[in-house]
Amino acid sequence: MAVTRLVDVDDAPALARLLAANRDYLAPWSPLQNEALLTEAGQREVLARDLARYGDGAMLPLAILDSGGAVCGRINLNTIVRGAFQNATVGYWVSQDRAGRGLASAAVADVIKIAFGDLGLHRLDASTLLHNTPSQRVLARSGFRPFAVAEAYLKIAGRWQDHILFQLRNPAAT
Ligand SMILES: CC(C)(COP(=O)(O)OP(=O)(O)OC[C@H]1O[C@@H](n2cnc3c(N)ncnc32)[C@H](O)[C@@H]1OP(=O)(O)O)[C@@H](O)C(=O)NCCC(=O)NCCS
Repeated sequence: MAVTRLVDVDDAPALARLLAANRDYLAPWSPLQNEALLTEAGQREVLARDLARYGDGAMLPLAILDSGGAVCGRINLNTIVRGAFQNATVGYWVSQDRAGRGLASAAVADVIKIAFGDLGLHRLDASTLLHNTPSQRVLARSGFRPFAVAEAYLKIAGRWQDHILFQLRNPAAT
């Protein structure tokens, strides 16, 4: 069952509320946030920018929905690269009050279907902090395999931190 849909600029109030409520929960796993982006106006800007990139074929910005159809997180295919690479990078979060219900795993399954179906990509990648066990469980369950540890890979919570790199190849790609 699909738990994702394309974002809409009118998701801004719900996303701003969720990001404010989850500020401390998401902080250890996220780049330092510009506070202005956590407001409704800030989220409208983020969503408009993401939808423009979607229009250019550079990303796929999706909302994650709970069993009642309410927005409870985001999942993106970022940095869609064509040419010889045919690759995109997966990133996601789910509100703490809906964690542990399989929503992130179902959202990643949706994204894989779209990436290897309609988008015809060859490979997806993702990365997690070394101690982000929930995210590693989501990726492992979805078929992603770890292939390297990259030192000081992303600046998360204000520090350049090591990450495990994961990849999933499209078995049907020619
Ligand atoms: C990572 C995240 C998206 C997972 O969302 P979710 O909807 O809870 O994911 P699922 O329910 O599909 O799966 C969670 C898995 O982590 C496991 N898990 C949850 N908390 C855990 C913990 N503290 N220690 C170990 N495993 C844990 C669950 O048991 C489950 O694995 P299982 O199905 O094999 O038992 C969510 O925790 C989150 O938003 N975290 C903060 C942001 C983040 O880390 N984003 C990813 C950056 S790489």
